[in-house]
Amino acid sequence: MNKVKGLKSKDLLGLKDLDLEEIKLILDTARSMKEVISRPIPKVPTLLGKHIVTLFYEPSTRTRTSFNAAAKVLSANVTNVAVSSSSVVKGENLIDTVKNLEVMGLDCIIIRHSMAGAPHLAAKNCQASVINAGDGCNEHPTQGLLDIFTMIEKKQTVKDKKVLIVGDIAHSRVARSNIWGLKKLGAEVVVAGPPTLMPKDIEKMGVRVSYQLDQEIKDADIINVLRIQKERMEKGFFPSIEEYAELYGLNAERMKKAKKDVIVMHPGPINRGVEMTSEVADGPYNVILEQVTNGVAVRTAILFLLLGGKTPS
Ligand code: CP
Repeated sequence: MNKVKGLKSKDLLGLKDLDLEEIKLILDTARSMKEVISRPIPKVPTLLGKHIVTLFYEPSTRTRTSFNAAAKVLSANVTNVAVSSSSVVKGENLIDTVKNLEVMGLDCIIIRHSMAGAPHLAAKNCQASVINAGDGCNEHPTQGLLDIFTMIEKKQTVKDKKVLIVGDIAHSRVARSNIWGLKKLGAEVVVAGPPTLMPKDIEKMGVRVSYQLDQEIKDADIINVLRIQKERMEKGFFPSIEEYAELYGLNAERMKKAKKDVIVMHPGPINRGVEMTSEVADGPYNVILEQVTNGVAVRTAILFLLLGGKTPS
C-alpha cells in the first residue's frame, strides 16, 4: 500500500519540530510550485473555498506579501488583519483574537509576534492550522526553508557544504531556523559575529562558533548574512555601527578572500553599509532577490501541504 505523504502536524511552528522527510517533502513540493508559478496564468484551484488570515504584530514586507501571493496561486481567500487598527489595541489577548478569527470560518492563521512561543500558544488554542511567520528570537521557519531551497537550487545540495552565518546570532530567529534545517540536511554550519551577539551554548545546536570572519570566508560555500536586529536590543552590543561594519560587514575587499563560486544571502531588509556594502548586496555572488522569489514557491508549498491540497495539475 502506498503511504500518503504529508506533514505530521496541522501547524508549521519551527524547523526544530520537522523531521528530515518533512523538510524534503516541503522542498520537493516547492519545486513543483515554482513550476506552477512560472506558468502564464499562475493559478490552480487547489484551495478554492479555503480562507487564510495573516495576523502580524510586527512589520513585514516580504513574508506577508509572499503569503498573500502564495494563497492567490492556490485560489484561497486571504484577509490581512492590521493589528494596529484591530481590537488588539483595546487590549484583546492573542488567544481571544485567534478564537474569534477561527469562528468566522478560517482555515489557517499566519502569525508574526515579538514574543517567542506566541504561534505555539495560538496553535494549542484553535483547530485551524497556524503558521509561524517569525516569533521573537525563536524561529522563522518559512525563511529558513526558503533559504535552504535557494542554497540547494544554487549548490545542488547542502550536504557537506560549509554555510557561514554572520552577524547578530543572538537575536536572530532566521539563524535558528537555518541551523535546525541545515544540520538535519547534513551541512557544516559555522556562526560568526561579535561575542556579545553570540548566544551562550549555541554549539549545542551542532554549529561551530568563530570570531575570525576573514578566516572563515575563505572556504565557505554559502555566506548567509543576518540583519542587525536593533528592535530587539535593549543595550549597546557593540561600540558603534562603524566598528561592526569594519569587523563583521561584508565588503568588496573582504569578498576577495572568498571562493569564486560563493553565494551571498540575506533575509532582508538589509542595513546597507552595516551588514554589507551595496557593492556586495548587488554584486555577482548575491542571490538575495532570488531568495524572495523562492519565498513565494516555498510558502505556496506549505499552504498546499497544510491545507490538504491535491497534486497540482
Ligand atoms: N525576511 C523577512 O522576514 O522579511 P520581512 O520582515 O519583510 O517579512
